[in-house]
Amino acid sequence: MIKKTINIEYSAFANTEEMAESDRILINRAIEIAKLSYSPYSKFPVGAAVMLDSGEIFAGNNQENIAFPSGTCAERTVLNYVNANFPDKKIKTIAITATNTTTTEPVTPCGFCRQVIVEMEMKQKSPLRIILHKIGGETYVFETSKAILPLAFDDNVLKN
Ligand code: THU
Repeated sequence: MIKKTINIEYSAFANTEEMAESDRILINRAIEIAKLSYSPYSKFPVGAAVMLDSGEIFAGNNQENIAFPSGTCAERTVLNYVNANFPDKKIKTIAITATNTTTTEPVTPCGFCRQVIVEMEMKQKSPLRIILHKIGGETYVFETSKAILPLAFDDNVLKN
């Protein structure tokens, strides 16, 4: 038996001023759309904005329901919209933020959303960057979505 470890590489920015302008624009879009979130039950608004390879930006937020499992996270709101309307375009980056966090760290996507983000990256066959932003705090950048879902389920299993 040997012990193995998995390293997750990401960049942490203390201030968005250090970031590329296109990333700052995307973060600001995520902040703006979070404010329109429908989250009366959790009172935890989340926003997600994606930039396509065409440079277009789309955004979504969490949409809750009184039947709790019927709600949708911000990430899947925007990713499902983009994949429905522009299935042939590639997503370069997704920026995610929450306006009401109690932690000092950026919000991180749930397992369900991680699986969906990784699916998009596998489908488009090019890296999908993830930006996790804490308003007034740090920002983390992952150059591939696979970094946040180590040992992801692989669709090769279904092809045999
Ligand atoms: N939520 C998101 O929209 N994205 C995340 O990354 C974390 C959680 C939503 C789901 C629910 O509406 C609320 O935040 C509280 O869990």
